[in-house]
Amino acid sequence: MLLNRIEYWAMNNPLRGFVQRHYEAPRLKRLSGSAADNVLEIGCGQGTGARIIYDLFAPQKYVGIDLDPRMIRRARAKASALPNATFLEGDVTDLGFPDASFDLVVDFGIVHHVPNWKDALAEVHRILKVNGEFLFEDLCVETWERGIGIPFKKLADHPYEQMFRKREFTDKLEALGFDVETHEDSPFSFYHFWGRAGKLS
Ligand SMILES: C[S@@+](CC[C@H](N)C(=O)[O-])C[C@H]1O[C@@H](n2cnc3c(N)ncnc32)[C@H](O)[C@@H]1O
Repeated sequence: MLLNRIEYWAMNNPLRGFVQRHYEAPRLKRLSGSAADNVLEIGCGQGTGARIIYDLFAPQKYVGIDLDPRMIRRARAKASALPNATFLEGDVTDLGFPDASFDLVVDFGIVHHVPNWKDALAEVHRILKVNGEFLFEDLCVETWERGIGIPFKKLADHPYEQMFRKREFTDKLEALGFDVETHEDSPFSFYHFWGRAGKLS
């Protein structure tokens, strides 16, 4: 789903980049165990994630995809100097890359926007190499049931009817053939979870 005006503003705000760089990305990096020559970022947004991924993982090649053409334009403008970085308009549920194309897939807060999220996770599994990694930082049903998630629920457009609980997300990853490690916290009473899924088969 495309972001509404409020969330589009929130995601293209310097504060979002600060949180992503100094809070979310380092803890994903700490979970990561493998080399990441070939990286795909799903829902890459305005390109901040790309710059962080280059700083932390030093990929040989990076592809960022996003459903929103405005985000892709912003990302190309912002991150055009990164070597071998490509930004493409696309849908995570139908990636179009060959099987086993990437060593690492990164999700900074996108899968909770996808109504058919099981298809998205299946695509991530398909395009990863065996022993490749999926690093995720995301929101789920629990986010909107407590704390400041309750008033925030009205501000953002999300596919709430189809959204997963954290356990459903991890169960699906395990069913696909991933070994999964997750963590969760609630800074300022805003629940979210993050983790690593290693492709076993
Ligand atoms: C909450 S924003 C996060 C953006 C960026 N990753 C960040 O952390 O700032 C979610 C992003 O996912 C994109 N998105 C939503 N549904 C998508 C889909 N089915 N396929 C690819 N991107 C999608 C949106 O356009 C948006 O840029």
